[in-house]
Amino acid sequence: MNDSATTTARQRPEPASATETARLLPPGFELGVAMASYQIEGAVHEGGRSPSIWDTFSHTPGAVARGETGDVACDHYHRYREDVALMAELGVDAYRLSVAWPRIQPDGTGPVNRTGADFYSRLVDELLGAGITPLVTLYHWDLPQALEDAGGWPLRDTALRFADYAVAVQELLGDRVGRWITLNEPYCSAVLGYGTGRHAPGVRDAGRSLAAAHHLLLGHGMAVQAMRQRDPGGAYGITLNLEPVSALTDREEDRAAARRSLTLSNLLFTDPVLAGTYPEDASRLWSTVSDFAFLRDGDLETTAAELDFLGVNYYFPARVRAVPHREPDPALRSIEDLGVATPLLAEDEVTEMGWPVEADGLRRVVVWLHETYPALPPVLVTENGRACADVVVDGVVDDQERIRYVDAHLRALGAAVEAGVDVRGYFSWTLLDNFEWAEGYARRFGLVHVDFASQQRLPKASFSWYQALLAARAAPA
Ligand code: FCB
Repeated sequence: MNDSATTTARQRPEPASATETARLLPPGFELGVAMASYQIEGAVHEGGRSPSIWDTFSHTPGAVARGETGDVACDHYHRYREDVALMAELGVDAYRLSVAWPRIQPDGTGPVNRTGADFYSRLVDELLGAGITPLVTLYHWDLPQALEDAGGWPLRDTALRFADYAVAVQELLGDRVGRWITLNEPYCSAVLGYGTGRHAPGVRDAGRSLAAAHHLLLGHGMAVQAMRQRDPGGAYGITLNLEPVSALTDREEDRAAARRSLTLSNLLFTDPVLAGTYPEDASRLWSTVSDFAFLRDGDLETTAAELDFLGVNYYFPARVRAVPHREPDPALRSIEDLGVATPLLAEDEVTEMGWPVEADGLRRVVVWLHETYPALPPVLVTENGRACADVVVDGVVDDQERIRYVDAHLRALGAAVEAGVDVRGYFSWTLLDNFEWAEGYARRFGLVHVDFASQQRLPKASFSWYQALLAARAAPA
């Protein structure tokens, strides 16, 4: 080792070793990786797949950084065997994948497209052959464009279409897949998709955003009920992105802003799903943009369909400061940011996404769930990870910040379990660098580096660290 390498190694803060962290996890704790169809598959015109809202949106000038699209992505559609082999080498218990609705039902309804179905069938067989348990997400944002053209999630009928699609996928894969996540992050689909317009389909309309949120949760509940009826032995859940919310200061306006933020980012989703209620202050907050006519008798019983687990995605905390609203359209004020902001603090470590790193936020958010909802089912952390400015030097990506991030978040989960929260597993976001939505390919979250020109995969230092953790802990029953 030369002098400069020694200095770098000395300056690097030591992460707790993988072995020590593995000891903090309860026996049987599940460890996996997560990815999502549009972010990795590519092959958007193959196998009878129709366009999704993300194909349309990413091809809209100005929508995605540098005009990038998921047309090729990681070419996982053709390279899935290589990618499953990487997961096997890593040693994960489980892989959280998502099924692209437009591969299964190109029009969003009607008969199943066999070629699309076969892809997922082969993928599931490959996983099982490698000893990896599939955890299938039915909707990770790629709505068939045909359904958007008919009205999208603001339309009640889309919830019914989703429940039909869910059962169709269960009929295809249910002999080999026993665990299902209906939706990934309905907050993003509703608020970013139909409110701020930052995500597909790029609509900016507060009222439609609220209707979309409701119909997403209604579709979730209908799907759980229908799938459970078909297979009572299956395990059913939903994945929500949740934030531990606090006011930045004790000032009354900051505390009021934090309360509004909590309603929009968490309660609008957790109350209907975990308590069968609607947040108390919703109608007051949004009376100018919605009459809530979408909320019908019996809906909240459906949205609160019994769950076997709750998926939680966590990236960063919300610490809220009231700010004057800047959106020129006053109707959007109520959804755009509710007049709030999460400022960065001078001492923050910040990821390539501009997100502050706060591992303890993961402990706080699952403790909040545990204390707020008596009916909380077991929790799975279905996504967590960070974007780094990864560079390949002499064939190596030495992503120590990612190692520290994963390590710290796992230790925070260990503390949550210690405090009595029933957390059963953790899925790293993500295996491969991939298409990071509106940010395109420049935001790398993978344990494996992808050279998008050659499609070459190169495991990073974090891959070896996660591998060591997996090898060190007690394997699940
Ligand atoms: C989440 C998404 C996931 C990924 C991460 C970074 O909101 O569910 O697809 O993009 O953020």
